[in-house]
Amino acid sequence: MSKRIEVNDLNVYYGKFKAVEDVTLTIEPRTVTAFIGPSGCGKTTFLRTLNRMHEVIPGAYVEGEVMIDGNNLYGPGVDPVLVRRQVGMVFQRPNPFPTMSIRENVLAGVKLNNRRMSKSDSDGLVEESLRGANLWNEVKDRLDKPGSGLSGGQQQRLCIARAMAVSPEVILMDEPCSALDPISTLAIEDLIEELKKDFTIVIVTHNMQQASRVSDRTAFFTIAGTGQPGKLIEYDDTTTIFSKPSIQATEDYVSGKFG
Ligand SMILES: Nc1ncnc2c1ncn2[C@@H]1O[C@H](COP(=O)(O)OP(=O)(O)OP(=O)(O)O)[C@@H](O)[C@H]1O
Ligand SMILES: [Mg+2]
Repeated sequence: MSKRIEVNDLNVYYGKFKAVEDVTLTIEPRTVTAFIGPSGCGKTTFLRTLNRMHEVIPGAYVEGEVMIDGNNLYGPGVDPVLVRRQVGMVFQRPNPFPTMSIRENVLAGVKLNNRRMSKSDSDGLVEESLRGANLWNEVKDRLDKPGSGLSGGQQQRLCIARAMAVSPEVILMDEPCSALDPISTLAIEDLIEELKKDFTIVIVTHNMQQASRVSDRTAFFTIAGTGQPGKLIEYDDTTTIFSKPSIQATEDYVSGKFG
């Protein structure tokens, strides 16, 4: 179910402001790709265009192509709701629906997609998703309690379970550990390692150790200055980016001299 993502000559705009310029890259199925770079260089902006999530922002639009297994997400007649089902997203702050139980949170995306399910099918999906997110053992006795009653790290794993429940092909994660303690962070990193057996994962992170621990490939973005668009500077195997990058700006960033 995992798919290849090919981005060709992508520009992203907020109204007249070009936030990201001319990105071309290919992400292989069943890999983890990290996006790194200084604040404001467009990592979140670019990530959101991989499932058309930027379209919820008035005035935001793209030029260029994003192909998932050869189909352009921006092609005529493509339904953004279906795109978001194929390409799930996990945000920086865990955002379980506060009035919903743990079980309802896991099923929230599936219900939105209007899939009718028997009680036993939905129980099975809840268990499978929570197991997949390494959360089942911690919550199996309290599935009808509110999702907001979990710790931050558990809430983030609940959000990952919710994303997985719709069987996406790709999961995008925008700094998924930035609000978490080191133990919860390691739990999420272990989970990402597991998830890549089934999904293509793209993760934005400011944590260089995290990028080198979890990702196979790393893309370094930067901006020349305020008001300038963010650009993809270098994209390579993670070990290359962190040990012998070809571009000085990458070297400066990963060694902590800049950003
Ligand atoms: N909703 C928006 N409307 C207008 N401009 C925006 C919007 N979101 C982001 N921008 C601008 O686009 C540029 C890129 O922002 P983005 O949030 O993608 O950066 P980032 O690399 O994710 O930064 P950070 O590491 O701080 O999360 C910035 O100049 C930002 O101000
Ligand atoms: Mg961001």
